[in-house]
Amino acid sequence: MKILVTGGTNGIGKGVAKALAGLDGQMHEVIILCRSRELGEAVIEEIGHTTQNTNISIVLCDLTKLRDVKRAITDIQERHTYLDGIFINAGIGYAAKRIETEDKMDPHFQVNYLSQFMLTLNLLPLLEKSKLGGRVVFNVTRGGKIFWDDMQQTQKWGYEDGIHQAMVAKRMLLAKLHRIYSNKPNSKLSFIGFEVPKTVWTNQLNIIPWGMKIMATLMKYLGTFMTIEACGAVIAPLLTETQDQSLIKSGQFIVQSKAGYISKIDDPEIIDWALQDKLWSISLALCDDPSTSKIAQSL
Ligand SMILES: NC(=O)c1ccc[n+]([C@@H]2O[C@H](COP(=O)([O-])OP(=O)(O)OC[C@H]3O[C@@H](n4cnc5c(N)ncnc54)[C@H](OP(=O)(O)O)[C@@H]3O)[C@@H](O)[C@H]2O)c1
Repeated sequence: MKILVTGGTNGIGKGVAKALAGLDGQMHEVIILCRSRELGEAVIEEIGHTTQNTNISIVLCDLTKLRDVKRAITDIQERHTYLDGIFINAGIGYAAKRIETEDKMDPHFQVNYLSQFMLTLNLLPLLEKSKLGGRVVFNVTRGGKIFWDDMQQTQKWGYEDGIHQAMVAKRMLLAKLHRIYSNKPNSKLSFIGFEVPKTVWTNQLNIIPWGMKIMATLMKYLGTFMTIEACGAVIAPLLTETQDQSLIKSGQFIVQSKAGYISKIDDPEIIDWALQDKLWSISLALCDDPSTSKIAQSL
């Protein structure tokens, strides 16, 4: 399998990249989308050292910039003729204040959702060329809402609201993509949402204020966190399972229980087709990119 992991230089993405690289006799190729060449190359070295997998590469992309996303899409299209899977994961967490991106957007909205909306749409043709059934797994959590009248949170900002809004947007995106592809004859693509079973001890915890860090450290010793490696081991099989296994899960919001993966009924707003379509149209307008619009029209 050839799998692209967004945000594979830290946290959950790194855990998944590591797990993928070590699975099935190191047969999987891992492409890490990251914003820092230095960090990306260090992660290739670290994962290569622990798993002996030499088939790991990076694609540079700063998700706060749509022009960079477009460049990364071209880069991937030039270097790869197909993809078997994508893990949509990169995201920002705690932030002390809102710093607008150069595209005049809220950074949580743009990094955690919109840039990856654009990336996913533009990489669908490569996923369609997969011989093993292309799949996109979205790192999502439950709850949250879309601030339809103030999506960029210019009037009322909060980093947690931004994180949760992006999660809702990703859940709506995967539901919409599933709806489109399940109506196509002989479609082999699946779109799955997955919620990690526990809070994961990631880089996000290094940047939170000290009060929150003390609480988190206490919780860590009480066992309420999981490591990135344990988290990667839970998520990676969703990216490498067979096409049939993956297609059964398509369109679902999956959580993990003691019995294995279970499907969760999503909120009414998420499964509302009219709202999914509304968000899709707004997202396309915000991308303001002929290539993304063309792909959307062709679906
Ligand atoms: N931690 C949890 O318990 C938990 C639970 C559920 C969901 N989540 C969600 O999971 C996602 C990943 O979080 P994490 O906890 O693994 O955090 P993390 O350790 O901070 O990792 C985030 C990853 O996203 C990348 N990233 C951030 N901004 C980027 C940008 N502008 N361009 C490209 N890449 C960028 C980071 O790159 P750098 O390495 O360069 O910083 C890093 O690789 C987030 O959306 C988070 O909300 C986390």
